[in-house]
Amino acid sequence: MICLGVETSCDDTSLALVGDTGLLGQKSSSQAQVHALFGGVVPEIASREHARYLQPLFKALLEETKVKPEDIGLVAVARGPGLLGSLLVGGAFAKAFCLGQGARFLGVNHLHAHLLAVGLEHELAFPALGLLVSGGHTQLYRIDAPDRFTQLGRTLDDAAGEAFDKAGKQLGLPYPAGRIMDELACEGRVDARLFPRPYLDNDNLDFSFSGLKTAMTAYLAKHPGCTARWDAATGRVALPEGPERQELADVCASYTYAVVETLRVKTLRALESPEARGINSIILAGGVAANSMLREAMLALARENGKACLYPSPALCADNGAMIAYSGWVLGSLGYAHGLEMEAIPRGRRVPEDMILLRSA
Ligand code: KG4
Ligand code: ZN
Repeated sequence: MICLGVETSCDDTSLALVGDTGLLGQKSSSQAQVHALFGGVVPEIASREHARYLQPLFKALLEETKVKPEDIGLVAVARGPGLLGSLLVGGAFAKAFCLGQGARFLGVNHLHAHLLAVGLEHELAFPALGLLVSGGHTQLYRIDAPDRFTQLGRTLDDAAGEAFDKAGKQLGLPYPAGRIMDELACEGRVDARLFPRPYLDNDNLDFSFSGLKTAMTAYLAKHPGCTARWDAATGRVALPEGPERQELADVCASYTYAVVETLRVKTLRALESPEARGINSIILAGGVAANSMLREAMLALARENGKACLYPSPALCADNGAMIAYSGWVLGSLGYAHGLEMEAIPRGRRVPEDMILLRSA
C-alpha cells in the first residue's frame, strides 16, 4: 500500500509518500522566513501559504517518485491539534484527492505522528514512554501500540519549544530560536544557578515553562549587553562581540540546561511510576528533540535505566509529511480509516479517538 501524508498543521507545508519499503519521497516548503518578520506564526498567512504550495509540491512529489495518483491507496492528513485554518486547507486537499481517486482517507493525530515517525528509522519497541517536545506541545505518553497512546503528562502553559522561542526573542534572535540557541549553547558553559528548573516541586508529570521567560526578562534587566541584533530586512543576525558574545553563549547553555533538566526529571519520574510498568524504550520526538543537550540527557537517562532511547534524525524532528504518511501507513495497515466528514481539531482540544476499523489486521 502507498500512503500519501499531508502535513499543514502549522507553518510547514509538507507532503510525503510511504510504501511497503519505507519513505518513497517528501516535498516540503517552510514558511519560517515569512513568519519571522512578525516574530511568530500568523495563522491567516499560514493558511494562505499552504493553499499556495500544496498543489506544486504534490506535482513535484509525483514527478520525483514516479508514483501515479491511482497508485495511492490511502491519504493521511494531520487532523490536529494545530491552527484550524491551516488544518482545513490540508484536510480539504486530502479529502478532494480521496473523492477524485477513490482512495481511503485517514486523519492522523499530529502529536502521535511525531512519536511514531521514529519507526521510519528504527524498529519501534512497545510499550514505550514517549516524550513529545515541540513548539506547541510538551507531552508524556505511555505508548502500548501505534493506536494505543495514554497521556501521562502535559504542559500547563508554554511548550518547551515556546520556552526557547520566547527567550530567543528576548535575546534578539530570529524566530524560531531553538536551533540557534542550541548552536550558541554548544559554545557556552552551564551555570545551573542562572535559571530555575520550573514546576518540579510536585508529584505530577505535568510541565510549566512560562516562568522561564520571566526569569530571562529578569536576567536581561541586569545584563542588557548580551543580546544579539536581528535584521529582518537582510535576515542576518549580528551577535555581540568580545565577552558579551561568551555571555550570550553561557546564557543559552544555562537556559537550555534548565529546560533539559526539567524534562529529564519528569521523564525519570514517569519511568519510575506505575504507569511505566513494562516499558522498554524511551521515544523522544518533536522539533525540540533535535536539541543536542536534550538528546545527550535522554540517552544517558535511558542507559542508566536499562532502556533503549530512540529519536528521529534532525530532519524528521520538525513538522514533516513523512511522519504523517508513515503513521497513516501503519494505522492503515491495521485497517483504520475515517469518513470524509472527519473534523479538524484546533490546538487546545483533545483529538478524539474515532477511527473506523474497516477490518482487523
Ligand atoms: O515540531 P516542530 O517543528 O513544530 C511544532 O509542531 O511545534 O517544533 C518547532 C519547535 C520550535 O519551537 C523550535 O524553536 C524548536 O522546535 N527547535 C529546537 C531545536 N530545533 C527546533 N529547540 C531546541 N533545540 C533545537 N535544536
Ligand atoms: Zn509538530
